[in-house]
Amino acid sequence: MATPGKKVVDEFYIHLSAVEEIQDASARQAIERAIRGLPPATPYPPNVAKFNARTGRVSLLSYPDFFDLPFPVLAASWAFPAGASVPAWHRTYADSLNPPILHRKELLLPSSHPQYNRWSRTTATAESIGLFDDVATIGFQLNWNRLIQSKGYCLVDDDFLPIGNDVSGTADVAEGETQKPIQRHLTALSRTSLSAPVQMLVRHGLLRSGVTFFDYGCGHGGDVAELTSEGIAASGWDPHYLPNGPAIPADVVNLGFVVNVIDKCRPEATGAFGARAI
Ligand SMILES: C[S@@+](CC[C@H](N)C(=O)[O-])C[C@H]1O[C@@H](n2cnc3c(N)ncnc32)[C@H](O)[C@@H]1O
Repeated sequence: MATPGKKVVDEFYIHLSAVEEIQDASARQAIERAIRGLPPATPYPPNVAKFNARTGRVSLLSYPDFFDLPFPVLAASWAFPAGASVPAWHRTYADSLNPPILHRKELLLPSSHPQYNRWSRTTATAESIGLFDDVATIGFQLNWNRLIQSKGYCLVDDDFLPIGNDVSGTADVAEGETQKPIQRHLTALSRTSLSAPVQMLVRHGLLRSGVTFFDYGCGHGGDVAELTSEGIAASGWDPHYLPNGPAIPADVVNLGFVVNVIDKCRPEATGAFGARAI
């Protein structure tokens, strides 16, 4: 079983419940000394320690939602320079609009922890959609949330869900209630970045220069426009937004969040190529 702890360059992070398992005696003793030097009562009791192997500095960190949030938010920290038994400074992030957050939290606990595998899966998904490709700015909450959105996902509990439909409109009113055709086009988002499935195609090398792309049910055409601007021969068709779009064969055909909006198998719900819900 691997020893608990996450290493980021010179920093070593560990949950306080696992401090006894630290094999490096000087790191363990420095963390234990810092814990003893904490003020007796604090509104944000620390639950994580950070030890800098180069400077010997210990920071005690408070993540009140460590066990509840997939990427816990830092509420307070205490810094102990090498050898210090009282904190040199204390900082709270209670009023911060963009507090630091913690990634890969499972590494801070032993792999025998009951949630270890579940949290590892969240980390693996984050890796697979490219959230750790550039780690320069992911340490702060706003940047992280923006990055998730730019990858075409939203975070619901600890699941990354592709952002598919705009659910703010009236598109989900049942046909029988209004006697009018369902306005499926209202589900289309105005995208500012590639949708999640198209990002996946690019990420896995299926969509690249020289490959043609057709977006069936392209909505406002955000994916087509973005790919075209990147030099990929992309076109699309949509019954509402682009009914005269060319129906042409392509190497890659995308039906991104289309089948799920075709709720019933009826003639007016089929498109140019007769796609139906099944
Ligand atoms: C949720 S939007 C997805 C748009 C786009 N693919 C995206 O990911 O941004 C669903 C789109 O499917 C289109 N649509 C509805 N019925 C369709 C059909 N039978 N065939 C093709 N597209 C259809 C709607 O007009 C709407 O633009």
